[in-house]
Amino acid sequence: MAVVFHESTKVFHLFNQDVSYIMRIMENGQMEHLYYGKALKDKADFLYLHEETMRSLMSVCMPEPSLLSMQYTKQEYPSYGTGDYRSPAFTVLQENGSRIVNYTYASHTIYKGKKDILPLPATYVESDSEADSLEVRLHDEVAGTDLVLSYTVYADFPVITRHARFEQKGPQTVVLERALSASVEFNDMDFEMVHLAGAWARERYVKNRKLEMGIQSIQSMCGTGSSTDHNPFLALKRPHTTESQGEVYGFSFVYSGNFLAQTEVSTFDMTRVTMGIHPEGFAWELKQGEVFQTPEVVMVYSDGGLNKMSQAYHRLYRTRLMRGKWRDEVRPILLNNWEATYFDFTEEKILTIAKKAKEVGVELFVLDDGWFGTRNDDYHGLGDWFVNTDKLPDGITGLSKKVEETGLKFGLWVELEMVNKDSDLYRAHPDWIIGVPDRFESHARHQHVLDFSRKEVVDHIYGMISKVIREASISYIKWDMNRYMSEPYSRSAKPSEQGMVMHRYILGVYDLYTRLTTEFPDILFESCASGGARFDPAMLYFAPQAWTSDDTDASERTKIQYGTSYVYPLVSMGSHVSAVPNHQLQRTTPLESRANVAYFGTFGYELDLNLLSEGELEQVKSQVAFMKAHRQLIQMEGDFYRLLSPFEGNETAWMVVSQDKSEAIAAFYQKMNKVNGSWLRLRLQGLCADTLYEVSCNMKPSLVLDEKLAEVYGIQEDEEAFQVYRAYGSELMYAGIPIDRKELTKKGGDFASLLYTIKKVAD
Ligand code: DGJ
Repeated sequence: MAVVFHESTKVFHLFNQDVSYIMRIMENGQMEHLYYGKALKDKADFLYLHEETMRSLMSVCMPEPSLLSMQYTKQEYPSYGTGDYRSPAFTVLQENGSRIVNYTYASHTIYKGKKDILPLPATYVESDSEADSLEVRLHDEVAGTDLVLSYTVYADFPVITRHARFEQKGPQTVVLERALSASVEFNDMDFEMVHLAGAWARERYVKNRKLEMGIQSIQSMCGTGSSTDHNPFLALKRPHTTESQGEVYGFSFVYSGNFLAQTEVSTFDMTRVTMGIHPEGFAWELKQGEVFQTPEVVMVYSDGGLNKMSQAYHRLYRTRLMRGKWRDEVRPILLNNWEATYFDFTEEKILTIAKKAKEVGVELFVLDDGWFGTRNDDYHGLGDWFVNTDKLPDGITGLSKKVEETGLKFGLWVELEMVNKDSDLYRAHPDWIIGVPDRFESHARHQHVLDFSRKEVVDHIYGMISKVIREASISYIKWDMNRYMSEPYSRSAKPSEQGMVMHRYILGVYDLYTRLTTEFPDILFESCASGGARFDPAMLYFAPQAWTSDDTDASERTKIQYGTSYVYPLVSMGSHVSAVPNHQLQRTTPLESRANVAYFGTFGYELDLNLLSEGELEQVKSQVAFMKAHRQLIQMEGDFYRLLSPFEGNETAWMVVSQDKSEAIAAFYQKMNKVNGSWLRLRLQGLCADTLYEVSCNMKPSLVLDEKLAEVYGIQEDEEAFQVYRAYGSELMYAGIPIDRKELTKKGGDFASLLYTIKKVAD
């Protein structure tokens, strides 16, 4: 890995064994992008990659005889208005009303390691040998602004990270009307755009569309969240690229608020990808001496399909974005009372549920919404972070101790950014909500957004909740957020600062997270936003797991978890077994399948175990034991492979494989059962071809005689032999595991699933 500057050609080359990123300082001092993709051998002269030719109607930005036109030049960070008619990466409004700028090279720094961009979350290094970084400083004389473009190349990941920083040096006050984090250009358009779109209870479905000339974009303008609708991620893949082969470029935005992720294809087939804070409603005033830092974009290059891209994101985000104690620890198996009781609970009921959870091996009990203020439904009480003693006479302090006496850890739900109008907090501070005075303030779930762009609001909430945490024994916090922002306006900001409110709001959220995670470093935080409305990399920096979706139906979850896995590691995905009929869909799925899906995440339960039969409880006990035995592999050590997509057919399959390929767990799920169906072959991936493995499965893997025939001919079936067999990695990957559909019928038919544990046979 290195960052090299070739003085003779003014070329910068960032590379490691997988990836190259090449740019140069042009004759006019601006930065040109030359190449991004599979690693190239370093040399000084990549100038032949510059494309310049005479075209009608083009605006030439240098004196004749130059033919340099920004419209046809791949740029590192394109500006507005100097002959490039595509969307810019940034716009700077100056005091004379002009938006015309000319940022030219001033200096650069190459250094070992990677700097943080606090208070914004970002990927990091633990030692300087893990990455090399480059800062290119550009300057616009008239605006008096420095623009610093920052890049990092990691040694062990096919990853380049980018962000931009504006530093106002001159006396003018300028306004950043657009300040995206990155812009990357490709000289062709032979791509499909992959992104994750959805809505509540069907978050992050995989979408694929061919690039066409013009703009295609995804965005969030929800203010409080990166949203259920679009995740801050897009990938460009070649049309023939699959999960297991072909080129992909991933772009993931480390931010939790409004974002824009856009592809623009010019009529000369050039593709520009831009990503950053959404410019709509954004206007950042920059006075002399002030700095604006954009969030980070993490770019992954893969020449091995979407799985390889995801594996790089998983490893990087699990080890160099998540932080603190829980980064390296398997997650406790929890039981959450939300779907068990909703708001209707007493201390006695909670303890009954907790005791049963302890009996089956659960490790953590989580008390969800409804424990504070007058919160007996979702109309009241948000903002009043003191306990409801009608429900919990001994408070959270008393309850947490009693839960701990059962042998479980105790966790608590909070929703710190919100307030109900029927609350003491709102009555005391009606001006603390986001909204424009004298105009209607839209509500959602009967609640309003507290103005976290104001420090005194964050201070107050911190004071209330830290007291609750300090006085009780709390091991886990679920931080929920159940509405998007509307009428974005802060009553405390000046008119000229209103365009800063939504970003300041998110900085306020990060501030509160920072204070709480600093004061309580042992607490495991799980983020949540009506399920998965704020499942983004920035949240993982503070809370290393997130509630993936309010949809707990096992079959729906295969889609949600499949899509989420494009970027996010299994250990970040909150996944629980819930009751049937499922509360969101009224669908009944086998208990076995519910666990088989939930294993591929943090694992837990979301039901009252007292309502289960003895047989079901035995099943639950063995599920908990299975997860305890395998969570190190699933959550910490394994590489995840998607095998069959729920978006393409009736079947889903995926697997995790240990780094040394000695161990794996694979799962197969079907939606509808098929009558008299053909045999299936499940082809695994990622194993070592020549290694002999022992495969155990919860069904018979090969041809089994009909029971009657076996009886007539006196053949003894050895059940055990059918459930455990041996095969080489090559057989499992190329011939595949045969699946008899009849066995799926025996397992309940619709929504049945199979789980395989695969272990290298000892040498
Ligand atoms: C939305 C979350 O996603 C649920 O799990 C639950 O915590 C409710 N909020 C509580 O109001």
